[in-house]
Amino acid sequence: MTTPLHITCYYDFKAWVKKHQRSLLVAAGLVGGGSAVYYGLHYLGLTSQARKERDAARAALLHREAEERAEAQLQSHFESIQRISDTTTLPSVLPQLKASLFSKVDLSGLTEKLILGKDDPQALSQRDKMQLWQELKTLSFTRTVCAMSALSLLDLFIRIQLNILGRRVYFDTARDFMNPEDLHAPLSMSVQHKFIAFAGYLHHKGLAALVGDIYKAAEIELRGKQLKESFTLYDLKNVFVRILATLDSKRPAWVQYVLPPDNVLPEDLAGASSAADASNQFADVATSDNEVLDQLMNETRAVLASNEFHEVQAVCLEVMLDGVMEELYTIYRGSSDSGIPLAKLLPPVAGAGSTLLEHPDENRFIRILASLPQVHAFCALVYTNSSEEAAA
Ligand SMILES: *[C@@H]1O[C@H](CO)[C@@H](O)[C@H](O)[C@H]1NC(C)=O
Ligand SMILES: *[C@@H]1O[C@H](CO)[C@@H](O)[C@H](O)[C@H]1NC(C)=O
Repeated sequence: MTTPLHITCYYDFKAWVKKHQRSLLVAAGLVGGGSAVYYGLHYLGLTSQARKERDAARAALLHREAEERAEAQLQSHFESIQRISDTTTLPSVLPQLKASLFSKVDLSGLTEKLILGKDDPQALSQRDKMQLWQELKTLSFTRTVCAMSALSLLDLFIRIQLNILGRRVYFDTARDFMNPEDLHAPLSMSVQHKFIAFAGYLHHKGLAALVGDIYKAAEIELRGKQLKESFTLYDLKNVFVRILATLDSKRPAWVQYVLPPDNVLPEDLAGASSAADASNQFADVATSDNEVLDQLMNETRAVLASNEFHEVQAVCLEVMLDGVMEELYTIYRGSSDSGIPLAKLLPPVAGAGSTLLEHPDENRFIRILASLPQVHAFCALVYTNSSEEAAA
């Protein structure tokens, strides 16, 4: 296994391993297997007092080995979680996100009316025509800014979920190994499914509010911009930057777009996971499941409200915008220095919005997000941000 440098640079797993030694070293002994490590643990004073008196130098060596193993294992577990997020969970939700966005920001009706008006000058009054164009202008930008925000929001949200789950599963394993008689409930499949089902909330429900907020910001920014006005690439980027800044100045509570206020999923979205629940005959298991789910949701909310989340979301949006500008750069080839009239820019601007959400398995923007050191550092923070489990 090669150790990805950017993680060790941004997050020090070593310090964390030291802090949570007890659970982690046991887990390393369990998965890593070596008996040296196993016996090493006994030297560490985890169990027998008598063994403590044995060769201290040997114990220290074994200790260090166990630590290194725990660290390596933690890192590879962490890496595998990020891969699952990029290659499985996110691609499975992306098509629904795109469909939902395109039905909420539907440009085809407007374009058809404008084309009709062109063919038949009597069909539209000058005023109608102006209004349609204004709407097309606002919606084109709205769609692309929405695609940028929703994609990075969903990417980060799924990472938060998987890292929280991954850490719990890891500690459950460690705990079971240490206390085989401990009857605490492990994370059931039903809880895991219910928790992950929340990844559908954005496209199902939250997106409507996001579209509304971005539409307002775009409308304000574009109000004074004439369709004949020429825009250089720089001007165009500025329009995006200012729409995003307007949105940001309201310090959007991103959590409202990705989680329902009461933690209750809409019926149709919860369908699959509650079917699993119905087969659960033991009422006390169901109660403890609800409590665990409650904890997971509370933790997810806390992360979404954190400064770290706002910071990483801002970085992601900046990078998304750079990617969009790269797409738009091509239409400027061979254009005059004074720029391109805004009316002509609208189709490629709206088009960039669909590129963002296309090809769930080969999406350029998802790859860009996955390679960001800030995203890695943030995920490592979520993965290692434990208080109660580690104390077990
Ligand atoms: C989750 O948060 C709610 C509201 O703050 C609180 O009432 C509840 O006790 C929390 N649940 C757990 C399991 O921490
Ligand atoms: C870390 O955990 C604390 C308390 O459990 C929480 O308030 C905070 O938001 C978490 N931060 C991250 C980035 O996970």
